[in-house]
Amino acid sequence: MSHPEIQETRERFFQALELVSRRDELLETKGKFLGKQGEITLLVSRIKDLPPEVRGSFGQAVNLLKKEVSLEIQERLTSLEKTVRGREKVDLTLPGVGPKMGSLHPITQVIREVTEIFEKLGFYVETGPEIETDFYNFEALNIPQHHPARDTQDTFFIDENHVLRTQTSGIQIRTMEKSKPPIRIIAPGKVFRVDHDVTHSPVFHQIEGLMVDTDINFKHLKFILRLLTRELFGEERQVRFRPSYFPFTEPSAEMDVSCFACSGNGCRLCSQSGWIEILGCGMVDPNVFHAVKIDPEVYSGWAFGIGIERIAMLKYGITDIRLFYENDLRFLDQFPH
Ligand code: DAH
Repeated sequence: MSHPEIQETRERFFQALELVSRRDELLETKGKFLGKQGEITLLVSRIKDLPPEVRGSFGQAVNLLKKEVSLEIQERLTSLEKTVRGREKVDLTLPGVGPKMGSLHPITQVIREVTEIFEKLGFYVETGPEIETDFYNFEALNIPQHHPARDTQDTFFIDENHVLRTQTSGIQIRTMEKSKPPIRIIAPGKVFRVDHDVTHSPVFHQIEGLMVDTDINFKHLKFILRLLTRELFGEERQVRFRPSYFPFTEPSAEMDVSCFACSGNGCRLCSQSGWIEILGCGMVDPNVFHAVKIDPEVYSGWAFGIGIERIAMLKYGITDIRLFYENDLRFLDQFPH
């Protein structure tokens, strides 16, 4: 038997529920249907006065409706509370979402690491201009006009007398001009060369080292560079010095470290030699001392120059130099400090 009144009450309830968007509105609707004078409550109270033949089915239908409505209200209440929590209630005990921490660029990290090693040894940091005159970049470093060594440097010229410095070695000259021995400096900085492939960039970084005093000899240089590689790459790296040529040092050498990939057995990284060249060095050439008016009969000194990208590539196993300059966070994030 159908009971149109009950059906209509049900429809009114669902229409009312449709309009509810807040908790107080829901409670008001609940009151309207299930409260003391609520529509459903009144229907329930009528059951007992009905004639026996309809009482059963009417009572059943009302109770069913009452259950359905209570359940709907309960569900709606829970979902409203959830959205309120999502929107307004804040759990103050949760850890905050802080801004993402940046980190130092791997090139900066290597520069700082080398600088710290030398500062402990009493060296101080010098800098020089990136646009350099011919005198500081070449002439005073015993590379006169038309010297074949000029060709090896792939220079960016600005005008006849100015270049983008091709090496940090000019800082040696600037330092010796303005200060008297004893001198102990390192000089990190950008250098520029017309060169571009997976291991060469037109802008890269070097650190220059210079020590000048009375009685400075090659043993001091070897000791300090051995110490540097041990600190940078670890105890187990072997080093060797090979005779070489630089116009501003005599004698000159290049230092190799045992290969990172094969530990000296020979592989592609080291062209099967087992060794990797990491820096140039030597005893300051007397001609350089003459250019800065330091007497080579009284003083001697050593110098070295090291490429930072090269060090970082070996240290971290990076095979493409361009990664350093693209500022891709997926790359940079791998060098926290
Ligand atoms: N300036 C050299 C270069 O760029 C590196 C170098 C070699 C620096 C020997 C020095 C040195 O101070 O003594 O290839």
